[in-house]
Parts: sequence; C-alpha cells; structure tokens
Amino acid sequence: MTSQTLREARKYEEVSRKVIREEERPAFHLSCCTGWMNDPNGFSYYNHKYHMFYQYHPYDSTWGPMHWGHAVSGDLLHWEFLPAALAPDEPYDRDGCFSGSAVELPDGRQLLMYTGVTRERTPEGDLCELQTQCLAVGDGLDYEKYGQNPVLDRTDLPEGASVHDFRDPKIFQVKDGTYRCVTGSRPADGSGQVLLFGSEDGFRWSFRKILAENHSRFGKMWECPDFFELDGKQVLLVSPQDMLPKGFEYHNGNGTLCLIGSYDEETDVFTEEADQSIDYGIDFYAPQTILTPDGRRVMIGWMQNWDTCAVSGPTSRELPWFGQMSLPRELFIKNGRLFQKPVRELEDMRGSRVSHEKVTFSDVIRLPGVEGRQIDMEIELEAGDAERIYQKFAVRFAQNEQYHTAVSFRPRESVLKIDRKFSGSRRAVIHQRRCLVRSEEGKLRLRLILDRFSVEVFINDGEQVMSATIYTDQAADGISFFADGSVTMNVVKYDLKSR
Ligand code: FRU
Repeated sequence: MTSQTLREARKYEEVSRKVIREEERPAFHLSCCTGWMNDPNGFSYYNHKYHMFYQYHPYDSTWGPMHWGHAVSGDLLHWEFLPAALAPDEPYDRDGCFSGSAVELPDGRQLLMYTGVTRERTPEGDLCELQTQCLAVGDGLDYEKYGQNPVLDRTDLPEGASVHDFRDPKIFQVKDGTYRCVTGSRPADGSGQVLLFGSEDGFRWSFRKILAENHSRFGKMWECPDFFELDGKQVLLVSPQDMLPKGFEYHNGNGTLCLIGSYDEETDVFTEEADQSIDYGIDFYAPQTILTPDGRRVMIGWMQNWDTCAVSGPTSRELPWFGQMSLPRELFIKNGRLFQKPVRELEDMRGSRVSHEKVTFSDVIRLPGVEGRQIDMEIELEAGDAERIYQKFAVRFAQNEQYHTAVSFRPRESVLKIDRKFSGSRRAVIHQRRCLVRSEEGKLRLRLILDRFSVEVFINDGEQVMSATIYTDQAADGISFFADGSVTMNVVKYDLKSR
C-alpha cells in the first residue's frame, strides 16, 4: 500500500523532472531526478538490472526530509528514473529514511534495509534524533515497509553506543546463506565504530560484534560502512566526519577511508593492515559497492562533500537538481593498495578518437581536436630532457577566456593538484586539493573523465583518484597544456557519446 506521502512525492517528481532538459544533466553520471540527492543507497543487481536508490529530497535542491529516490540501468552509465521508493511516512521514520542497502531474498523479493529517523524533545527541551534500522520488501518498483519495524533499536546496541548515531546498514549474505549487516555507530569516546549484526532470514537481527573501532584516529563518527572481500583481502570502507588532515593523505572535514586487512568469518575478527583515502579530490563521499554478475566489485560514491555543498552558492543552485553520483569504478587490490578504474562499460561509449604522440613542449600549447566536456582522455608524461626534469606540468580544461579548471603536477615534489578556482564558483569553499603521487623521473599517467559538470582523474592506472564537480558554463570546452621545463607527452582523447 502506497502512502499518501509517497504518492505525493511520486506525483511531484513526475511533473518537475520534465522541466529538466537532458543537457542540463550529466550525460552518464546518475543525477537527482529532481531536487536534492546525497548518498547512494541500495546499490544492487536485481531482476537483470542495476538498481540505485539514493538519499533524496524531491521538493527542494537542499537537504530535507529524506526519501529514497530510485533509478535502474543496464550498464551502470545510462540510468532511467523509477518512482521514489521510500518516503518518511511511518511513526518510526517520520523524520527521514536515511541511508541503507539492498539484498535479494531467496523468494525473489528485494529487501531494503535503511535507517529510520525520528526527532524528539528531551525533557530539557532540546531536539534529539533517534536512529533505528528498518526494512522494506519489494519487487524492484514498489516496496512495503515491514510490519515489525524497527528491527534494530537501542536494545541491540553494545554498551556506550549512542542511540542518536546509529545508521547506514549495509547488508550482505555470507557463505552459509545467512545475512550480516554493518552499521556506523558512535561509541562512548565520541568517535566512531562499525557494528556487525547477524540474521538467519534477513528479518530477525541480533548484535554480533564491534567490528572496527576508530578511537579518534580517522575523524570522529564513521558513516556509511561497506565491508567485503577483494582479491584475497578484506576491505572496510567508511566515511568519517570531522577529519583532521594527515599529510596529503587525509584532509579536513568529511573524508573517505579504506581499511585493508583480513577477516575471520568464524570469529568475526577483522584485522587492519593498511589505511588510505578512497578519493583524494574534493567531491566524493559515502560510497557503496556491489558485486556484478561477472564478479567485479564496483563502487559508486556521492560526488559531493558536505563541507563544500552546505554553503554552495548560486552557481550550483541555478541547476534544477543538486547532487550526482561518481562514475562506477571497478576495485582491485595491488601492492596492498585499493585501486580504482572506470567500469569497462565506459569504453563502449567512446566515439571519435584523437591522438598525439611524443609531443615535446615547454610552454602553453593546444592540440588539434583536443577539446570537449564529455570526454575520456589519457595523458602519459615524461621528462623532455632527462638531465633536467621539468618544474611543472598542467592540463587545463573547461576553458575559455574567463574559466578553466586545472590538474597540475610538480614532479620534484611528486604532488598533483586539482584546482577549480576558475570554474565559475562564487563561494569561498574548497577549490583546490593536492595529493602525493608515485612518480619517477617525471613520469606520470593520468586518465581524465569529463562529464559536463564533473572531472574524475585516475592516476597511474587507478592507484589514486581525484574527483571534483564543476558547474562551469558548458561553452567553456577548451583544453590546453602547460609545461615549465621540457615535457614529452602522449595524449589520446575520445568523445563520449550520450546514447
Ligand atoms: C552521509 C549521511 C548518512 C545518513 C545520510 C542522511 O552522507 O549523513 O550517515 O544516513 O547522510 O541523509
């Protein structure tokens, strides 16, 4: 039975999405149907389609009472909107259906697990949020909330864990067919931890273990955990709030963290071995992964960041939608690190190809045929003069007389920088970020994917990624290259077809 609240949301989005023209959206990144989008939710493969739900406020392009938006795709790049799946319409989720995940049940139905939020007044008169875990079951289009919601509440928490910060269940099935879920939680020390719960049937849940503890090492509260096996290792992804910077690895504010280690399924013990950022750019948060039918672990994140969008200004708000997802990225482990590559399906979108080989330069150049805002471009750099390594290289794109966004590299420091200061932003938010890359003698490999309102830079075949949104006028589609000192470069650029 569809509630009045959900019916209204569905009616509203059906009408208002029609006023958004195709070219006002990214071509192959999922953007919000209408209004506001944050975290990916319920990312899954179900009934021969990829499903993506998302944190959604249809009525405005700012965050508000959370619904779940819904879209499907055959290739993870071309998305079709379906009607909103969940609305905050029950006593236990009346103030929001927060992030969660999806799994297919043995009877073929799809199970959604999400955080129900209610706000209550304390006896002192303060407003406080209660978070519990809830279920909904459906057929890929319509979902019915479970009659016995919530299935996890304050009574299931270990000692000291906060009832206000208990959210974002990521559900998965283990070898014996039973279910587990991990959630974010705030322990008594005020930082973050990940809790592990178990269930025989997906409906009756119980606490198993504290899977990982932050102890304020990486920010404070940990949001949106994901936990999976990858290339013989176990990976825990979380999105910490309130980070302090650590060299060029972690930056201030909301960040992303990947812990790589091993896991004993018998004892539920996760042993950490290494940590790293997931994305080193400006806009990436709360990623979620799936296992595709052909066995690839693919991750999509929210291509935004709370610290930069909370105060973003007229430029982005001129759009009738706010919020888009990152490219789907295939994950793998190499030399103990998490690597990411754009899903291979992206190669099917490649249209005309332009290449320039062994271009040696030491000033500003443009190359014939190299331009565009919907492109896949590979750049291979090396020193033009092995005796004297160049000082700096930069590629500028989304460029005209007024605007450009730049990715620049200083080989002597091994620092790669993204800078969107001149992308049309009128707000004093973060416009630059740097990252330390692996480079010898000025060699570096970059792959830039541009899709109208974003850039994603894959460094050294996916060893690191930097993502950023840009809202620059689409007419700014120039690309130029700059070198201080002699650089030799190979460039291959493909236009990416929309359909
Ligand atoms: C992360 C997050 C989640 C929460 C959701 C609310 O971006 O804060 O922890 O479930 O957004 O929209």
